[in-house]
Amino acid sequence: MSIIFDSERNTFKLDTAQSSYIIKIRDGGYLLNLYYGAKIPDTYVAGRESRSPTASFSPVDAEAGNFCPDTAPLEYSTNGAGDLRVSALSVRNKDGNSVTDIRYDGHKIYKGKLPINGMPSTYANTEDEAETLEIYAKDCVTGARVTLYYTVFEKYSVMTRRAMIENTSDEPMKLERAMSLSLDLPEMDYDMITLWGAHNMERNIERRPLSHGIQGVESKRGSSSHAQNPFMALAKRGADEEHGEVFGFNLVYSGNHSLLAECDYNSATRVIIGINPTDFIWNLGAGERFDTPECVMVYSDGGLGEMSRTFHRFYNNNLVRGKYKYEKRPLLINHWEATTFDITTEKLVEFAKAAKELGFEMLVMDDGWFGKRYNSKSSLGDWYVNEDKLPGGLEPLISQVNAFGLKFGIWYEPEMISPDSDLYRAHPDWCVHVPGRVPKLGRTQLVLDVSRKEVRDHVFGMMREVLKNHNISYVKWDFNRNLSDAGSAALTKEQGGEFFHRFVLGTYDLMDRLTTEFPDILLENCSGGGGRFDPAMLAYSPQIWTSDNSEAIHRLKIQFGTSLCYPASAMGAHVSRKGSAPLKTRADVAMWGSFGYELDPRTFSAEERETVKAQVADYHKYYELMHTGDLYRLVSPFENPYLAAWEIVSEDKGEALVTVVTVKQEQHRNLVLRPRGLDENKTYKNSFNGQICSGRTLMKAGIAVHTANSADGESLTVCINEVK
Ligand code: DGJ
Repeated sequence: MSIIFDSERNTFKLDTAQSSYIIKIRDGGYLLNLYYGAKIPDTYVAGRESRSPTASFSPVDAEAGNFCPDTAPLEYSTNGAGDLRVSALSVRNKDGNSVTDIRYDGHKIYKGKLPINGMPSTYANTEDEAETLEIYAKDCVTGARVTLYYTVFEKYSVMTRRAMIENTSDEPMKLERAMSLSLDLPEMDYDMITLWGAHNMERNIERRPLSHGIQGVESKRGSSSHAQNPFMALAKRGADEEHGEVFGFNLVYSGNHSLLAECDYNSATRVIIGINPTDFIWNLGAGERFDTPECVMVYSDGGLGEMSRTFHRFYNNNLVRGKYKYEKRPLLINHWEATTFDITTEKLVEFAKAAKELGFEMLVMDDGWFGKRYNSKSSLGDWYVNEDKLPGGLEPLISQVNAFGLKFGIWYEPEMISPDSDLYRAHPDWCVHVPGRVPKLGRTQLVLDVSRKEVRDHVFGMMREVLKNHNISYVKWDFNRNLSDAGSAALTKEQGGEFFHRFVLGTYDLMDRLTTEFPDILLENCSGGGGRFDPAMLAYSPQIWTSDNSEAIHRLKIQFGTSLCYPASAMGAHVSRKGSAPLKTRADVAMWGSFGYELDPRTFSAEERETVKAQVADYHKYYELMHTGDLYRLVSPFENPYLAAWEIVSEDKGEALVTVVTVKQEQHRNLVLRPRGLDENKTYKNSFNGQICSGRTLMKAGIAVHTANSADGESLTVCINEVK
């Protein structure tokens, strides 16, 4: 059993293979966090109920033995009732104040895990794979009743947390903050690690020591964003790639998020994660409930590398769903970077013919196939075929592509509307806007108000018409701007603060409809590259376009950063013509991801064609390894300006592939590559020098690789295979 209730101590203990988490019900019904960290055998840890023996200025609860909420490790902190730190829950009640105070009101423990209403989440494949604790806590004055959900995935050192708030009173109330989790840790000697970025340079790793006060990352862009990923790790000072304690947090949400840490006057740390409270007010009528998104928490005492591998295994097994969770995905080629909007049936058929000869399995038709779409200025929302480009519609094109033995994929941007579109002319109030203001444009487009059901019905109806009548195997779902002027013509004045979350729920509804009605379609998410690369999107699409920057050397940082919590199977990575790195390097880098090509296949020289055919063979050879293996980041481009190196090891440790890229040549460089994650006692042969030796020798003595002769941008791969 991974969750137990110790009725003598009044504690809950939640264990994974490597971690323990202890919650105490204190007198007065206060819920306290006594411990989160490496696995321990006991159900109680003394001295953890308060951070400080004295608490001048901080208010106390005289009825509960002068309990001081402000110095206590509260399990789900509330606003205004004595705890003066940043809080998880704030309810504005019928009296107009936002004082919120919840106390224990029962619990339930059961096997398995429940889905969340209208929102994606991780799941248990069998009931035995997970166990869930629900703790109920109630505010007797307002009638707000909270359910805290904790699901333990014992095997993975993973816990998920979320909350549900119910209005059990007869009066309406407003949620001003409703966060997914609150976690109080007793110390503050941690570094915060987050992933910042921008279009074309997503998910750079940033590490900073925690300091007193509030720090963290947020999005108020209407999506999880290029700017700050909904990921945060707290690494014990000194923890690195291989050693030390790390707590990883990833919010399963695609909208405005907030991941904060507050270090208080006792030098303790509070973590608060959930929907960004800025621009959020949710009206909760009598009897109504509100579900927060869930947050995945990973504990590692093997550094950042082990944290990442845990996220990867867990996401591959318990988040990604559908046919392509296990089934091999077709090797695709996309024309976008070669032609942009300039496509015709003739040109695409030529692409398909050349692609077939090289061994590709699917042609993806990107932006430009619909309405009057000759550039980015028009037609989003007009999801019918542009017959000037594709005479006779999609059928002649798809049947010719299929005749070469290739599958066919198509591009959509369902949550957008161009001012120059038939849809906008028919329904000008269907764009996201507020009264009295001209909504701002982004990439010359407006955002379609998918918070409205009739709008979703319409856009999905148009998509269905195309998808059900053609042999389409893949959809690329794009989202090319951030939200502004956030409002809906369908919401009342009181509901203004609900818009952002309703928009996200609308997106989830659309994606749910698509994946339910077309379960055989491979969905790839995209948002101007990787602007919506989050676990919620992964629940619908097993792969996400990682970045519009497909230049191999720039991709190193993008893929290293993305890999902190997202698996290789999720990272759409294509060989393109961008940059000057050799074709081999482009493929070696893209191979660490969901591999494909993004160029004109007719332009390869005879020599390049042979190279590409060999790359396609490697793709098949290493598919299983790349999609299910364990990642070891050997040399990070964030730490080393000259080199990047990584390794993928098969689950059974029988095979590994190490890749090294010379970012910048350094004279007299003598690199000793030390693979990790092998079995010390197995015997391996490596392809670099052919030596046959034990896993221990390989990992300790390494492979001496002389990179002095390699030029900027060159790559080297070393295969390591078990010899039986
Ligand atoms: C942005 C995407 O990231 C690109 O791959 C491409 O699909 C364009 N949009 C099309 O407009």
